Amino acid sequence: MDFIDLRSQYQALRTSIDARIGTVLEHAQFIMGPEVAELEARLALLTGARYCVTVASGTEALLIALMALDIGPGDEVITTPFSFVATVEVIALVGAKPVFIDVESETCNIDPTLLESAITARTRAIIPVSLYGQPSDMEAINTIAARSGNITVIEDAAQSFGASYRGRRSCNLSTIGCTSFFPSKPLGCYGDGGAIFTNDAGLAQACSEIRVHGQSARYYHSRIGVGGRMDTLQCAILLAKLARFDWEIERRIALGARYGERIRALGVQAGLLTVRPDRTSVFAQYTVLVEDRDGVQERMKRAGIPTAVHYPRPLHQQPAYQQLCDATFCPVSEDLSRRVISLPMSADLSDAQLEQVVQALSEATRR
Ligand SMILES: Cc1ncc(COP(=O)(O)O)c(C=O)c1O
Repeated sequence: MDFIDLRSQYQALRTSIDARIGTVLEHAQFIMGPEVAELEARLALLTGARYCVTVASGTEALLIALMALDIGPGDEVITTPFSFVATVEVIALVGAKPVFIDVESETCNIDPTLLESAITARTRAIIPVSLYGQPSDMEAINTIAARSGNITVIEDAAQSFGASYRGRRSCNLSTIGCTSFFPSKPLGCYGDGGAIFTNDAGLAQACSEIRVHGQSARYYHSRIGVGGRMDTLQCAILLAKLARFDWEIERRIALGARYGERIRALGVQAGLLTVRPDRTSVFAQYTVLVEDRDGVQERMKRAGIPTAVHYPRPLHQQPAYQQLCDATFCPVSEDLSRRVISLPMSADLSDAQLEQVVQALSEATRR
């Protein structure tokens, strides 16, 4: 069994993916070809955001968003330490200071009740991460940010493309949403890719200039930028994949629910995370909490079931970032990082395979 089954997806879409790739090879506009704008229009429609700017990766999306907001030295950006490193990496790269606040134990997402006390006169942005595919309480976060004046909320939606919160799509839940099309993500291409979403025309313009070296006209650089374009082939592949994306979201939601039901029904010794009733998760990862994680992983491996850990060490305890943040105390993140384990998940996971995983987990956690 694969941890993430990308081969079945390709088999299902082979004809259209191959045709899309063939078209790009024929027209040979490998950078900024017509598929780039076509994809941006489709993704804007899908999220409900007015503007979509595709970029080279999810990391690049976050970096460009911070650059477009002119965030840099002297500024503080509040985020969660329970995320992939890219979330804090980009804050450090622009020279701003990361300020970590802890997460909710039920969702692993940033705890909005801790936000207000972390805000200072230097706070310029908040980056909530929609971890494992479920958005944070974005309304609470947006309200606190708005009350404080000059604070922009950037959703790190790398894992949540396709999820929703109170009837709105992830990526369109705050001033800026950034996603990743890394192959294992809910909408994944066959290499690196990402996108920025906003309803603000000025920010969209800034992001699209920054992704091409700050260029506002050919060889005229009005701002500092990066080489951050998503290539045409990757856009073409995603256009083909959109054909069954709605089904994939539904299937992921159903599999997430089924995992929970079966784990409960078998009395498996594993803690379940919560999907709040006002939102959906697209389960980029299906993650549970166990004791003796190393032992559980080893026993699952022997049973032929791959697992992964997202993430084993919170960001405030990573050597590269320890010095950047004042001794942060995030006990919930620290506890979760010792207990989380992710199980196989993809839209093509069959009910029989899911049952095999749950049975193996039941055995592996039995004491
Ligand atoms: C929460 C989060 N943020 C940012 C990123 C960065 O995305 P990418 O790998 O496309 O640069 C990822 C991807 O792994 C992620 O999971």
